[in-house]
Amino acid sequence: MALPTRTLFFFFVALAVASHLPSAFSLTTRQAETNSLDASASASDVTAAATTDSQRGGSPSATYVQVCAQIKASMSSASAVYYPGDPVFKWLSSHWAATSTQTSACVVEPRSAVDVGKILQLVGRYRTPFAVEGGGHATNPGFSSTPGVHISLNSFKSITYNAASQTVEFGAGLSWNEVYTALEPHGVSVVGGRALGPGVAGFTLGGGYSFKTNQYGLTVDSVVKFELVKPNGQVVGVTQNSDSGLFFALKGAGNNFGIVTKFTLKTVPQGPIWGGIVTYMDPTSLAAINLATSKFSTQSTDPKAAMLSTTAYYQGMPLTSVQLFYDGPNPPAGIFDDFLSTPSVQSDVGTRSYLSFYKQSPSNDTYGMRNYFHTVPIAKYTPKIMRLISNLTVAYGNELASKSLVFMTLVAEPFLPTILTHSTSPSAYPFTRAKAYTPFQIFLSWSDPAQDAVFESALKRISDAMYAGLVSEGQADSLLAPMYGNYAWGGTSVARIYGTNLVPLKVVKLRVDPTDVMGLAGGFKV
Ligand SMILES: Cc1cc2nc3c(=O)[nH]c(=O)nc-3n(C[C@H](O)[C@H](O)[C@H](O)COP(=O)(O)OP(=O)(O)OC[C@H]3O[C@@H](n4cnc5c(N)ncnc54)[C@H](O)[C@@H]3O)c2cc1C
Ligand SMILES: *[C@@H]1O[C@H](CO)[C@@H](O)[C@H](O)[C@H]1NC(C)=O
Ligand SMILES: *[C@@H]1O[C@H](CO)[C@@H](O)[C@H](O)[C@H]1NC(C)=O
Repeated sequence: MALPTRTLFFFFVALAVASHLPSAFSLTTRQAETNSLDASASASDVTAAATTDSQRGGSPSATYVQVCAQIKASMSSASAVYYPGDPVFKWLSSHWAATSTQTSACVVEPRSAVDVGKILQLVGRYRTPFAVEGGGHATNPGFSSTPGVHISLNSFKSITYNAASQTVEFGAGLSWNEVYTALEPHGVSVVGGRALGPGVAGFTLGGGYSFKTNQYGLTVDSVVKFELVKPNGQVVGVTQNSDSGLFFALKGAGNNFGIVTKFTLKTVPQGPIWGGIVTYMDPTSLAAINLATSKFSTQSTDPKAAMLSTTAYYQGMPLTSVQLFYDGPNPPAGIFDDFLSTPSVQSDVGTRSYLSFYKQSPSNDTYGMRNYFHTVPIAKYTPKIMRLISNLTVAYGNELASKSLVFMTLVAEPFLPTILTHSTSPSAYPFTRAKAYTPFQIFLSWSDPAQDAVFESALKRISDAMYAGLVSEGQADSLLAPMYGNYAWGGTSVARIYGTNLVPLKVVKLRVDPTDVMGLAGGFKV
């Protein structure tokens, strides 16, 4: 068969989209009722309006719009505020997933960290719900969306490579694509994303699993400095030496401590790599690939080798694609032989630039759909766990097919047991480094909002079935292991994500954000 990988792999996505018009695309654009309000309205005017509104049972959005006007008046002229109806409003508040898209009262686009501080002071003063959006790839409702003030970091796009210190400082509004592209001519890269799209900000603040994690650890392990706008509006550089508690907290605990405007990461050498995507369809090949993935998970020792095994539901069958990666022009014999010798329907592995490999990874085919992730921490993908993954793909795919399922994948993400040894200071995620767990990923994509509860329940039942399988394989410790917050479904308890770090994180929180300004934004709250 000579189908292009993406066409084959995502064939049924197109079918599903054609048959269920995604309601996500018909979001109504609400007009700003009061965007002609005097931008110089005083604080007491806004407070008075808030009181009157709630007494009248009026729409809170009118109050939020007044806060928007206050923000506009307080910021420098370079920064901007947009209202519904403006194409820029729509663009700056858009998300990868419909589940995390909401219409806010306004979009604020600050162009300096000082202006971000002014915004935080005002939303804190008026207790206005707000959102912070970096790359907009959160899927959980409310994590980077709000009915209140939507803060877009779109303008934070600077990138400065420092060859002498082997570091790069970059703005929180970038995606990994832009960072990799800027670094490529210098022969360096960073421990960043594996797929086109996700922003540097949410990704890094949650932990960060990269194709280079086996060599250098998580993205948080590469961070040397954050530029942070604290909830009180103050702009600070946070390093291990300047504030070890806050540095620890920012390395994995998301948006609990303020808004990060810049990251400084260590760079790592980057030459040509070897890799690509191979897709398997027939049952004998799938059985062989499950075994090969299991073998890679339990026996690989070369930190330059990495892979992902994605099992998708395809017309009543499982279909597996592996992404193979070697951080050098040619992998040593042995590592990927089983993947290469098993009959596939499509393969495009070869020597190429890191950037071209990265750009080829499929990521955007469910753009605008209702998308949820969930995760189960897994230390080892045994053959039985891999068979369970295939079984669950078919069982749940069949069950959800009539419920507007667009796409379902279960992703085995094997990493070396040594990935947590690369850090030089403690981090919020993961809460223990005594043993490494990989972030097995459950991904469900559907089109009908009326089915949200069905898909939530399926996520939970798939993860329960995975835990049952792990327990029967002697891996009951997965039940208490750190869950990866960047994949965890929004209803997950924060204790499963931050565990024994929850108390130290609360201590930092009370110091940095005593009035819980960041609690006005969604996300996992410590
Ligand atoms: C297609 C795809 C591929 C992915 N691949 C990987 C992968 O390879 N490895 C991996 O580890 N994860 C991966 N993820 C998960 C990814 O790490 C998360 O979705 C991450 O939260 C995305 O960050 P963002 O900035 O795009 O999202 P956003 O939705 O903008 O933000 C996510 C969260 O971070 C907060 N936030 C954003 N910017 C800031 C800021 N500047 N200051 C404070 N808080 C902020 C938001 O308020 C929100 O709570 C992937 C996700 C998708 C959809
Ligand atoms: C994903 O698709 C949307 C809609 O077509 C597009 O606006 C966006 O730029 C795409 N993102 C990537 C990373 O290709
Ligand atoms: C997978 O399903 C097959 C067929 O129903 C069954 O025989 C097998 O035990 C299942 N394996 C696992 C690990 O669930």
